[in-house]
Amino acid sequence: MYYKTLKGFPEHFLWGASTSAYQIEGAYNEDGKGMSVQDIYETPEGITDFKAASDHYHHMREDVKLMADLGMKAYRFSIAWTRVIPDGDGDVNAEGIKFYNDLINELVSYDIVPVVTMYHFDLPLKLHKKGGWGNRKTIDAFERYAKILFENFGDRVKYWLTINEQNVMINHPNAMNPGRIPSKKELYQQCHHMFLAGAKATLLCHKMCEGGKIGPAPNITAVYPEKCNPADVIAADNWESIRCWMYLDMAVYGRYNSLAWSYLAEKGFTPVMEDGDMEILKKAKPDFLGVNYYATATVSASKNDGMDCQPRNGDQQVMIGEEGVYRAGDNPYLEKTEYGWMVDSVGLRVTLRRIYDRYQLPLLITENGLGASDVLNEDGTVHDPYRIVYLERHFKQAQLAITDGVDLIGYCPWSFMDLVSTHQGYGKRYGFVYVNRDEADLKDMGRIKKDSFYWYHQVIITNGAILD
Ligand code: BG6
Repeated sequence: MYYKTLKGFPEHFLWGASTSAYQIEGAYNEDGKGMSVQDIYETPEGITDFKAASDHYHHMREDVKLMADLGMKAYRFSIAWTRVIPDGDGDVNAEGIKFYNDLINELVSYDIVPVVTMYHFDLPLKLHKKGGWGNRKTIDAFERYAKILFENFGDRVKYWLTINEQNVMINHPNAMNPGRIPSKKELYQQCHHMFLAGAKATLLCHKMCEGGKIGPAPNITAVYPEKCNPADVIAADNWESIRCWMYLDMAVYGRYNSLAWSYLAEKGFTPVMEDGDMEILKKAKPDFLGVNYYATATVSASKNDGMDCQPRNGDQQVMIGEEGVYRAGDNPYLEKTEYGWMVDSVGLRVTLRRIYDRYQLPLLITENGLGASDVLNEDGTVHDPYRIVYLERHFKQAQLAITDGVDLIGYCPWSFMDLVSTHQGYGKRYGFVYVNRDEADLKDMGRIKKDSFYWYHQVIITNGAILD
């Protein structure tokens, strides 16, 4: 749809940026922090692990000052469960609580709204060893952890995100399950338990945090049929329901998406449930939806010939395909990043429209950004025009989605600062702020504003008017 004039970004729009604890904090074993599954994750040869990351733990005040310089209205970050409760379900670590209290107070002192993810891929190792999300006791541990977070931070944190990218953890489970990749049947059992954990935290938030808003943060994308062949459309519907709607239908309506449920039944993946599970899931209602968006997916019809599923060394945006369900397709209309991710700014508009149309809840973009091998020049500058172009196009599509009627309350690009990418370490950088280290050499960990930092500052202070 074309409009004569576009709506502006709403007043109080939450222009922000995102990070996650294990990808920036470092200090993986300091001040009482326990080990998480990410602390023992074996990264490929030549790629850094997560132990030192961007050393945010020791640069916290300097980093928040940079957020204020950028003009950020909101900061989406995650709390490391193992910093607060080192073994996941035992004693509380006072130093962990202090770190996050200091961070939240620092943000509030600059009028930056904290948006807190409770769990971003970093399950406590001790819980993992006891069966992780396959064990129903992890639901209780998460509920108790949520209670501790609300007790300690709920007076100042009014935006909560339960679980980051539950759908990625189910579809791309490698990094979250050290030792052994669970079967799909096991993964969907984990998934059911995560749904319950998220629901219980949602109910608790509404009970404990006055004015607190809470929602999930899945990785959502529109799925396109490769051709207008109806068989491709069926495949696109299949994958969109299994990859996306199953997670949001459960969060919002407390029910399994019917198409996804038929898939689970056909494949023998339906989870074991206990009496009362569905009542809990139905009762918990999110106040808003976090949306992590990077790229659309394009699929073609399944041929069910043993070739639908392509073994790939893929990451979370790379489709694998599944026998009888869908086959990964190509989209000749889109460019790819240097890391092979599709770039589809219009797809952001499509995705936001579809989500809002289904759920009619406020949406907050909790991740979107461009990973690139940025270079620090000898004169101390970092020129990243490609990131500016990428974000400018996506911001414009967000504005179009707002004009379409989507209730978009904020936009937090990934990421505020360079961090350890989940698969490519520091080779693939996302930040507005460059962190001076590389894979092996920690250098001085200096913070350097990239060109995109200055540009994004202008976007924020004009509330998007410079995009016109
Ligand atoms: C999202 C995750 O899937 O994608 C982030 O929530 C991740 O943790 C981001 O960093 C970008 O992916 P990658 O693999 O480039 O780090």
